[in-house]
Formats: sequence, structure tokens, C-alpha cells
Amino acid sequence: MSIAFILNQTLQHCDLPPHTRVLDYLRRQALTAAKPGCQEGDCGACGVLLGHVDGCGQLVYQHLNSCLLPLVALHGKHLLTVEGLSEQPTPLQQALIDHGGIQCGYCTPGVVIALTAHLLNSPALDEASLKTALDGNLCRCTGYAGILRAGATVHGLLPQLPADPAQRLPALIAAGIMPAYLQQMTTQLAQLPPATATASDGPLLAGGTDLLLHQPTWQATTLTQIDPSLDQITLVDGQIVLGAACNVAELASSPLLAALLPALPQILQHVAC
Ligand code: FES
Ligand code: FES
Repeated sequence: MSIAFILNQTLQHCDLPPHTRVLDYLRRQALTAAKPGCQEGDCGACGVLLGHVDGCGQLVYQHLNSCLLPLVALHGKHLLTVEGLSEQPTPLQQALIDHGGIQCGYCTPGVVIALTAHLLNSPALDEASLKTALDGNLCRCTGYAGILRAGATVHGLLPQLPADPAQRLPALIAAGIMPAYLQQMTTQLAQLPPATATASDGPLLAGGTDLLLHQPTWQATTLTQIDPSLDQITLVDGQIVLGAACNVAELASSPLLAALLPALPQILQHVAC
């Protein structure tokens, strides 16, 4: 099956093995911002944003480590890397430059992605949430003070950012932190071919991050190949339905769950840490 997705601004139909790591794929495309650091999901240097249209029709982005992401997980989605944010430094990138948040720079693209995801998705925009957003990002030069100063500066640049993360994308596009071409992304994603896999196509996989550490040669079918909505959390007839392919980050960032269980995001910080 050809894997169809949008990479930054470009439509891709890719016939590489579905379990190819997205990090390896990007570097074959000469997109080298995402760095092979630990290659075990521990350092954040390989961070990317993966966008999809949720059950409410909103374009939402998730921060993921590309070293643990199989290519097949991109089907029907938008993969946004640092190269796709802007040709010029975004205000966030400029703040990192201005506040000494960049030393050797190896971790910097991952930090840019983590902080961009924070601006998109974090319910709170304060110092504590900034530190949480950087939980998965290791800066070996220990430039954290500068990185936190840059994050606080960007908070200050966005006093009007809507409290509801679902409303933030237009404001972040207007501020130059997210690219303007995202205004057409919902339409473009709707034109991608639907997933055609069925449960009988092979072993089923949900997540599989531990397996990908071993760079497997087998081919599995991911749940979202069968039904892309399986990684969504939706309200159906007054009940919250968790898709079978939801991950912990999706549980932690769900406004539906947070409304009922306000402590859940904080509790989930202790899962798999
Ligand atoms: Fe370290 Fe992916 S390379 S998390
Ligand atoms: Fe050197 Fe982060 S700036 S590892």
C-alpha cells in the first residue's frame, strides 16, 4: 500500500516499507533538522509535529519522536518538521537565539518543535507548563535557562492567545509561529486517499514504540490504517469514547477528559516516566 501524506507543503506517496522509521525517512529526503540523538525516545532531538483533523473538524498537532514513529502512521496526516515552519526564524526561534537557548544546536530543532507544540496544546502557558513541555528534551549543553527565558519571552509576545487550545492555530499563524499554508491543510488532508487496510492484512499494531527500537523487518498493520479515527477521543451519545489507538499524550491533552478529570494530565505525567 502506498502511504499518502503531506510532508510540510508537499504531497507524498511513499512505497517504502511501512515500518520504516520516520526519522530515517526524513534524513533520506535530506530533511536533517530532526536529529538522530538517542534513537530510543529519550532525548527529543528527533521531534516532529503530526497533524490530523479530529472528530470536531479541528486541525490538531501532536508532538512525536520520529525515531519511534513508523512511516505508516503518517497515512492521511500532515508531517511538519522544523524545515516546514518558516524560511526565516519564527519568533520562537528568534527568542531562542536572543536568549542563549542555542549552544551546540544539536537539540535545538527538537526544542523548537516541543515549544511550538506547547503553544498549540498546553492548557496553561506559564513557567511550570513550559518545563513540562520540555520534559522529553535533553540538551546536552545544559542550555535550559536560556531555553526557558526564550519560552517566557514568547508567552509575553502572545498575550491574546486563546485559552482554548482548539482556537489557537489561527493566532499562531498570525504571529508567524505556525506557517500560513496550514490555512489550506484541512482541505488538503480531506483529498488524501482513505486507508484501505483491513484487520486481516497482518498482525495488528497500536503504537509499537518499543518494537521500533529494534528496527524490525516485519510488516504490521496499524490500527489507524484500518480506521484513522481510532486515535481520537470523541463524545458519542453523552459518553466519552477512547479510540483503541489513543496514546497517553492524547489522553493528557484531551479537553473532553480534562473537563471531567482535571487532575488527569498531571497524573499521566507519571506514566512511563
Ligand atoms: Fe532521541 Fe528520538 S533520537 S528521542
Ligand atoms: Fe547543545 Fe542542546 S544546545 S545539546
